[in-house]
Amino acid sequence: MKIIARNIKDTEKLGKIIAGCIDKGTVICLDGELGAGKTALTRFIAREFGVKENIVSPTFTIIKEYEGKLPFYHMDVYRIDSEDDMYDLGYDEYIYSEGVTVIEWADLIKGILPEERIDIRIKRIDDDKREISIEGKGLIFEKLARELNNENTFD
Ligand SMILES: Nc1ncnc2c1ncn2[C@@H]1O[C@H](COP(=O)(O)OP(=O)(O)OP(=O)(O)O)[C@@H](O)[C@H]1O
Ligand SMILES: [Mg+2]
Repeated sequence: MKIIARNIKDTEKLGKIIAGCIDKGTVICLDGELGAGKTALTRFIAREFGVKENIVSPTFTIIKEYEGKLPFYHMDVYRIDSEDDMYDLGYDEYIYSEGVTVIEWADLIKGILPEERIDIRIKRIDDDKREISIEGKGLIFEKLARELNNENTFD
């Protein structure tokens, strides 16, 4: 499905809806050019999910752990050289844990993404407007899709 976020408020709303659907083991994959809004959306999801700390994107930290309703793992794999390197960082333990994982630039490790996941692609239309496509597989994705279908913010 595709939605249009007219501004950052709409992206925040989307983040809140996502936060309301995710659960143990959910993996959310974010793609889209530099500055598309991957970290912004991650921040909104995290905040609504009970993460008190502010999510930042330190250039050389691939995986950051936060504590929300459940452990919340934020990965930015932009600088990863190979999928194998992810395993060295404990990738497996994170995605198959009880926590929630959000992965920026997930396309770069598409060979090792779990089958059940939510794929979100953000496209910059102008300074404020974003086209956001959401696909996925599994119960959590289906729940999110239902919630978004019942939501008229993005019409
Ligand atoms: N509707 C919107 N949704 C998301 N971000 C928006 C929107 N409108 C404006 N922005 C701005 O766009 C910028 C997005 O930056 P952000 O760091 O989230 O991008 P990113 O995709 O994580 O980039 P990078 O690839 O460098 O990690 C922020 O400054 C944010 O305020
Ligand atoms: Mg980012």
